Amino acid sequence: MKAFTILFLALLVLASCHTRPKMTDDEVIEKGSAIAGKLQAALAKELTAKMKENGAEEAIDYCSLQALPITQQISEEEKVELARVSHKFRNPSNAASEEELKLIENYINLQQSGEQLSPVVISGKGVKTYYSPITLAAPLCLSCHGNFSEIDPGALAVIKERYPDDKAVDFELNEVRGMFKVVFKN
Ligand code: HEC
Repeated sequence: MKAFTILFLALLVLASCHTRPKMTDDEVIEKGSAIAGKLQAALAKELTAKMKENGAEEAIDYCSLQALPITQQISEEEKVELARVSHKFRNPSNAASEEELKLIENYINLQQSGEQLSPVVISGKGVKTYYSPITLAAPLCLSCHGNFSEIDPGALAVIKERYPDDKAVDFELNEVRGMFKVVFKN
């Protein structure tokens, strides 16, 4: 009976080792930052080009048709779950969960007290999730996410038509807009 108990405990320890995520938090930060950077670069490249060529109204077309497919493509290439999540979202598929809302709130508070914002890692069962803050760092962002006097009127009409419940306006320069999310399964 005693041997049996020891065997059982040994198996239990082995099983828990097995389900422990293999990546360290530092590795998650490093890989997560690289993947978030790749998504950011892919979105920014086309957005800037489209804004220069045809202005905000047409660039909206690009964002609304391409942002999610580009995110999906990088997610498949990198074999991770990838998203941008927001407390004040435009596309309801990017709505932050309860837990994510708390993280965003924390970033907002840190920013208000003048602290540096850095990525975080949340560990779950066999999963580690990387989050990093997205800020509206460029004045360009305000032409689609700023207040109504900053948003191009043509662009605003398209936004209202495509996103009747849009919450992603009235932001100020450098405000926290949401987070990149990269989920690593072990
Ligand atoms: C031409 C208009 C336009 C500009 C400029 C723009 N965005 Fe957006 N943004 C959009 C649209 C449209 C969506 C919704 C995309 C979708 O449906 O997947 C969006 C979605 C987002 C999201 C995902 C969360 C959500 O609300 O759905 C983030 C984060 C974001 N934008 C950040 C930025 C940042 C940062 C900048 C500046 C670098 C920026 N945007 C500039 C139009 C724009």
